[in-house]
Amino acid sequence: MKRISLLGSTGSIGCSTLDVIGSYPDEFTVAALAAGRNIALLKNQIERFRPRLAAVIDEEHACALRRMLHADSATSVRFGPEGYREAAAISGADLVVSAMVGAVGLIPTLDAIAAGKTIALANKETLVMAGGIVLRRAAERGVPIIPIDSEHSAIFQCLQGHRREDVRRIILTASGGPFLHLSQKELTAVTPEQALKHPNWEMGKKITIDSATMMNKGLEAIEAGWLFGIPLSAIDVLVHPQSIVHSLVEYRDGSVIAQLGVPDMRIPIAYALAFPRRLHRRSDPPLDLVKAGVLEFIKPDRERFPCLQLAYTAAEIGGTMPAVMNGANECAVEAFIDAKIGFNDICRLIQEVLDRHSVQKEPTIDAILAADRWAREELEKLLRK
Ligand SMILES: NC(=O)c1ccc[n+]([C@@H]2O[C@H](COP(=O)([O-])OP(=O)(O)OC[C@H]3O[C@@H](n4cnc5c(N)ncnc54)[C@H](OP(=O)(O)O)[C@@H]3O)[C@@H](O)[C@H]2O)c1
Repeated sequence: MKRISLLGSTGSIGCSTLDVIGSYPDEFTVAALAAGRNIALLKNQIERFRPRLAAVIDEEHACALRRMLHADSATSVRFGPEGYREAAAISGADLVVSAMVGAVGLIPTLDAIAAGKTIALANKETLVMAGGIVLRRAAERGVPIIPIDSEHSAIFQCLQGHRREDVRRIILTASGGPFLHLSQKELTAVTPEQALKHPNWEMGKKITIDSATMMNKGLEAIEAGWLFGIPLSAIDVLVHPQSIVHSLVEYRDGSVIAQLGVPDMRIPIAYALAFPRRLHRRSDPPLDLVKAGVLEFIKPDRERFPCLQLAYTAAEIGGTMPAVMNGANECAVEAFIDAKIGFNDICRLIQEVLDRHSVQKEPTIDAILAADRWAREELEKLLRK
């Protein structure tokens, strides 16, 4: 029986994780749940999974949640950064699922590592901002980091049983998002509602917009570089609109190993939770390649989707630059969702923030967090112009 602490339980990954946990009651129990503001959903999750601890964003939400729970509820409610820290480091948990969205996921993930928990990582922003530090601390503590992102789960699986020095190239697949075939001009006019309709995946808003701009693939390339110790120059991106081939590893003898599956996040989540075992997928139909039809692979267009290149460049510069790019992106995506800026402004504004940044090499966590705050302030200034 694995005991799990789930950070971001009310999100898309959080709900899919609880779906997996609920399907295998003999395999998993929930020690802690952490969410942001959605206390109505969190209450239902608490009643079903009975964690020892639940954490929310602030005192107001904690008080409201306590009022909603039965007086005899065995779940202690905590809040704020301390609450998240407790959830991440809760005694008795074997594995922490890091699935908050954005930069807020970094510190709780580090807390979980410090407490010696195995990490099942969905929050890619953690590695984008501070990959070097996170991996160093995980290695020092002997903590495995198992990816949940479908592409990274694919690569992780394709690497099992092979020598890392035999890898020539990693190929990350990308759906291409809802605007794959739109021209640069057409992209200026797309609305948040159109951008939030992903063709293949049901995900949170931020990652859905990141998929539409292809920033998501840039973030994933950085994540893959850290997770698998592969230089960015050996990480390629291929657009694959059907999202059946989740990624590929090319070896130096010319063999290419891919992982395939239906686009359902419960598959990589179940793999991460049960690793190194595999669980029986009971209810849903298996992959039917005949039904899937033609599988296409297209070179990504870095001119129409410049965020992809932006991420590669930020990562090559290194230091605080990826954290600045990530913070500016989070802010720009929010502004786009709120219809304050257009789709093509997202990349333009991030670029302006990057141009103003004086990079700090070998930053500490505090310097990374300061760079993240600075980037958001700079982007806000540009929005007010
Ligand atoms: N969705 C996917 O299919 C997918 C696939 C691969 C990787 N990922 C990665 O997984 C992470 C989560 O994505 P998602 O799609 O599940 O996002 P989501 O649906 O937006 O959920 C985000 C979760 O984070 C919580 N949260 C938001 N702001 C917070 C804050 N300031 N403090 C604490 N908690 C906060 C939310 O709580 P409330 O809703 O209660 O406020 C929610 O539980 C992202 O890093 C994403 O890139 C997602």
